[in-house]
Amino acid sequence: MSATSALRPVLPPDIRARKGQAPLVVLTAYTTPVARLVDPHCDIALVGDSVGMVLHGMPSTLGVTMEMMILHGRSVVRGLSRAMAVIDMPFGSYEESPQQAYRNAARLMAETGAPAVKLEGGAHMAETIAFLTKRGVPVMAHIGLTPQSVNTLGGYKVVGREGEAEAVVEDARAVEAAGAFSVVLEKVPVGLSARITQILSIPTIGIGAGVHCDGQVLVVDDMLGLFTEFRPKFVKRYAELGQAADQAIAAYAAEVRARAFPADEHGFADVLPTKDKP
Ligand code: KIV
Repeated sequence: MSATSALRPVLPPDIRARKGQAPLVVLTAYTTPVARLVDPHCDIALVGDSVGMVLHGMPSTLGVTMEMMILHGRSVVRGLSRAMAVIDMPFGSYEESPQQAYRNAARLMAETGAPAVKLEGGAHMAETIAFLTKRGVPVMAHIGLTPQSVNTLGGYKVVGREGEAEAVVEDARAVEAAGAFSVVLEKVPVGLSARITQILSIPTIGIGAGVHCDGQVLVVDDMLGLFTEFRPKFVKRYAELGQAADQAIAAYAAEVRARAFPADEHGFADVLPTKDKP
């Protein structure tokens, strides 16, 4: 059971109020069955645009569309009774202008029922974050490594070493001042994320950013061993469901080929028409 009140669904002010309290627990979810598994244990179910890579086999998150986020967002919201859904704004849906961001954020919230969105970017997105938060759109910001900028960054790199550190601190301050209710720090060095967590009055949620953040997030398929295309250093596998599924499918295939499945107990007895009964 998570530390946030169990009496009603979690909302953005509850997350904000958790600054400096028990760590926030966040996992991604993309479907109703996984949302049902996540709900009793987590504060937030993040419908990340990682769905593009994890469930749709895309090479990056850049091809993810509003329609995909709405479909998966609805599916997740149906599976939650307490944890809060946060929907990622996909690449190209918010960067052009605050107005474009508002139109798409409002659509994500209205069409999924989720009470908050997440978008990537620090100081350069502050105007947009302020525009959204003043108009009823709670925003979780995402700084450090921002995967939608993989081509600009030149890879999925650690962000914030040496000369980059002050820029990350500035990003953190800017999203807080703009009204974000929390901020994801991705692949930020441990000491820097500790410093940012100390400076900010909103919770930091780390992924590959060390233990000092106010919360942690992982991609659920990574930690369950279901997504095995690549494994960043920050992923800890809590289960090997991919291996278990492989063994189960191999056993099924072998039994079908050997006519060992289905057995008698998996079939239905014939009922003879009355006239044919002896
Ligand atoms: O898309 C995603 O899953 C994310 C998390 C990894 C933070 O943004």
